[in-house]
Amino acid sequence: MSEPLAELEDLPQAYRDELEQAGVAPLWPMMRNVLPHGAPQPVTQAGYWNYQALRPLLLKAGELTPVEKAERRVLVLSDPGRGTGAMQATASIYLGMQLLLPGESAPAHRHTPSAVRIIVEGAGGYSVVDSERLPMEEGDLVLTPSGEWHDHGHDGDEPVVWLDALDLPVFVQLEGSYAIEGELQPQRNRPDASEVEYKAAGLAPTRRPGHRARRFPMLRYPWTGTEAALRQMAAYGGDEIAELDYINPETGEDILPTLGFTAMMFGAGQSQRPPLRSSSCAFHVIKGHGRTEVDGQVIEWGPKDTFTAPVFAAISHQAENEAFVIRIHDRPLQDKLGYYEERAR
Ligand SMILES: [Fe+2]
Repeated sequence: MSEPLAELEDLPQAYRDELEQAGVAPLWPMMRNVLPHGAPQPVTQAGYWNYQALRPLLLKAGELTPVEKAERRVLVLSDPGRGTGAMQATASIYLGMQLLLPGESAPAHRHTPSAVRIIVEGAGGYSVVDSERLPMEEGDLVLTPSGEWHDHGHDGDEPVVWLDALDLPVFVQLEGSYAIEGELQPQRNRPDASEVEYKAAGLAPTRRPGHRARRFPMLRYPWTGTEAALRQMAAYGGDEIAELDYINPETGEDILPTLGFTAMMFGAGQSQRPPLRSSSCAFHVIKGHGRTEVDGQVIEWGPKDTFTAPVFAAISHQAENEAFVIRIHDRPLQDKLGYYEERAR
């Protein structure tokens, strides 16, 4: 094993003053902070947000702040390791709970970070992305990928709430985060691509010479299809819980460059003890109750709750009754950087 390294205080004050004057600092007192041995030492701590506690606060925001004054009426889920107000739930994942009331709309913009919305409750809400009108039904995933114009509207008569998951922290770190505002988009008068070109798994529009599919050909992943697929997986899947990754139907790759989404189904009483993963993650419960241990911390969860785990966390799930959960993670980014890793427990 290596020796402990010298500390800043081991150096004479006069020399330290000279270093500061010159705008430099010695690496050795700081090196272990940025290069700990064996595994990262995450700042992120496991977080848990109970939807029943969050919901009245969100509705109160609807009373206190008109949407015109908020543009996006969102309560940010801050990583407990970084404290309230932190614009991130893990090192790479931003999560926010967004409220849209009947008749409200949000102006069109596009930005460098990518977002996925998981619809939590309500009916009649919709997003328009790249002129495609995407209905928002409970459990649906709706994509607003980097650079794509998007706005929201609400034709229903109840509040609509969704969970935003963005790779915003990565873009903030890169000093690459910005938005451009625009006019509301014209809407194509047709159902979204999940109901047209990509209605059935394994089928895509005929490839013709010179034809190139859109970068993000499918922008909505209806929950009804996901749940049916999970149930079928579970029926024939053996002892392991059913898990399905959301993918781009043209390329087979993850739906976003940075973030991955996995739908999970637990049978009543079923448990899972995944390997230690180098990716940080968040879990959003669609239906069901259960308990999850994250590095020894016990989280009791129910429908519409959200919780998080840092990198290399020891995670154990135990479902009480039949449960559906969506896992949000940054494996796609780590794959691209070439270091995604899983370690046996
Ligand atoms: Fe946006």
